Amino acid sequence: MTMSSKGMTCIWVVVCLGLVGCAPEKTEPQKTTGAKASAAKRADSTVGSAAAQPTSPSTSQPQNAPSSATMPAPAPTQTEQKPAAAEPAAEPKRPDVIFVPTPQEVVDKMLELAQVTKDDVVYDLGCGDGRIVVTAAKKFGCKAFGFDVDPERIQESKENVEKNGVGNLATIEQKDIFTLDLSKANVVTLYLLPSLNVKLIPQLEKLKPGSRIVSHDFDMRGVTPDKVVTVDGDGGYGHTVYLWTTPLKKETETK
Ligand SMILES: C[S@@+](CC[C@H](N)C(=O)[O-])C[C@H]1O[C@@H](n2cnc3c(N)ncnc32)[C@H](O)[C@@H]1O
Repeated sequence: MTMSSKGMTCIWVVVCLGLVGCAPEKTEPQKTTGAKASAAKRADSTVGSAAAQPTSPSTSQPQNAPSSATMPAPAPTQTEQKPAAAEPAAEPKRPDVIFVPTPQEVVDKMLELAQVTKDDVVYDLGCGDGRIVVTAAKKFGCKAFGFDVDPERIQESKENVEKNGVGNLATIEQKDIFTLDLSKANVVTLYLLPSLNVKLIPQLEKLKPGSRIVSHDFDMRGVTPDKVVTVDGDGGYGHTVYLWTTPLKKETETK
């Protein structure tokens, strides 16, 4: 072997050693050895070796257990884990009863029975297409308010108000009727359901004395009406109209 081939061999050996030194670490879990192994064993067991005896049988912490400062932070509680994002918007209120319009002859009878004048303020709770509100404003020249939760009905009512040129007297609002303050009304019209009429009693009791409530087809269990009349509507079908005057006469009081 010449000097130059010896030199080449040396370079080759040096390169190989260098490559071994740079080899990536094994990804497989390695056996715990030495001090690490004994610390892990002590942490796992209350039965210590002579080198790591617990001070009492009840002490499970090894003497050299990591302090809380080096312990991983405790997992956050359920409430702490709540995402910081804003709460989702509340579901829009759905109608408690579907839209069925009151025939015009029944609307006329309801307002007549309530003896509406231009000085009254009429509230139609669940106004549908706004026909009661429009009729009250147009026929009696009074202020009238219609409330509904259905955006489609609100749109129809507003169009109806505009078409009939009563925008100066009639107001339509998208609101849940069970959240309304009725203290400014003195005529309330209803075409809902018997159970919804009953649910409205606490609000209706806040009406001024002498206010009138008229309901198409449905009574108000527990409250005695002042009048009940029947009207022939479209197709000859008889419609009932109930009238109550405030203060309401609870049936227990009248018995
Ligand atoms: C049977 S329709 C009566 C419509 C109109 N008052 C009439 O007599 O022609 C009942 C109306 O009440 C509305 N409604 C139901 N639940 C409601 C609520 N909680 N708040 C407001 N409107 C509601 C419905 O969207 C529907 O338009």
